[in-house]
Amino acid sequence: MNDSLHKFIAGLPKAELHLHIEGTFEPELMFEIAERNGKKLKYASVEDLRKAYSFNNLQEFLDIYYEGAGVLIEERDFYDLTMAYLRKVHTENVRHVEIFFDPQTHTERGIAFSTVIDGILRALEEGREELGITSELIMSFLRHLSEEDAFKTLEEGLKYKDRIIGVGLDSSELGNPPSKFERVFAKAREEGFLLMAHAGEEGPADYIWEALNLLNVDRIDHGNRCLDDDVLSAELARRQMALTLCPLSNKKLQVCPDLRNHPLRKMLEKNILATIHSDDPAYFGGYMNANFIATAEALDLTREEIAHLAENGFKASFLLDEAKEEHLSDVRAYAADFSE
Ligand code: ADE
Ligand code: ZN
Repeated sequence: MNDSLHKFIAGLPKAELHLHIEGTFEPELMFEIAERNGKKLKYASVEDLRKAYSFNNLQEFLDIYYEGAGVLIEERDFYDLTMAYLRKVHTENVRHVEIFFDPQTHTERGIAFSTVIDGILRALEEGREELGITSELIMSFLRHLSEEDAFKTLEEGLKYKDRIIGVGLDSSELGNPPSKFERVFAKAREEGFLLMAHAGEEGPADYIWEALNLLNVDRIDHGNRCLDDDVLSAELARRQMALTLCPLSNKKLQVCPDLRNHPLRKMLEKNILATIHSDDPAYFGGYMNANFIATAEALDLTREEIAHLAENGFKASFLLDEAKEEHLSDVRAYAADFSE
């Protein structure tokens, strides 16, 4: 790809809507925090840990991801993790972030919900003030655990209702369909939370139907498999239901080993509101710009198509209409004024 397209992507205003904060844990910071908490990692060095980042499927990744998150103990650890992410994406012209955190990954280990969320919220506040990045927080239920467990987590989240915009559903998809969480999602809706679910990453198109019709989600995370079902694809386009795609994640987890076969282009042809994000960038080899670049190269996207994807990111966000419009006009002005 030519340098000018790289430059175009680097300067483009972007919104990150699919990002697990635990997935931004870079090995260097992981070793530093492990040491100060007196925790031993299974790996001898940063290089050894990085070498382990080779995955045949989602579960192989999740095993390492939960292990890494296990060294996060103090409020300060969650603050440092979140701040490092915000500083990184600030250099990439990311203007707005909607971040997932997995409370159960920590409460299961005896860490208080408040320790986790207080550290994340303190960093988000600082990110707003110092870096000008606006943000929202989403708590995700781990789908390999029971619905009862998710209900307990929802209960804890209610104490922070004004600081959490929505709930999500992540972790091991196969064998844990959205239908398992129908009641807890209904309760979350009643309480005023927005709803999202990972669906159709490794799981079938039916899981996307369930997320739509049983969970009544506002956004689908991934959704790659929707193209297996023409009726579903048409329904997603009709509803303008956003799919938050993560191309480098898909490559690394063998969901789509060759990005030239990535479903994004077909989705855009079908008028589906597809967007690009980074999922777990510390593990998958790149943040927002790297995801945009890899996709643009593999699918031979034009500058107009890339700008359209950045616009979709803001359209699919939970920003209020006025803020959305401002970002959209920034993207359009940037694209119109760009010179190589
Ligand atoms: N948790 C963190 N990243 C995830 C992904 N890509 N799919 C499901 N659960 C996750
Ligand atoms: Zn994800």
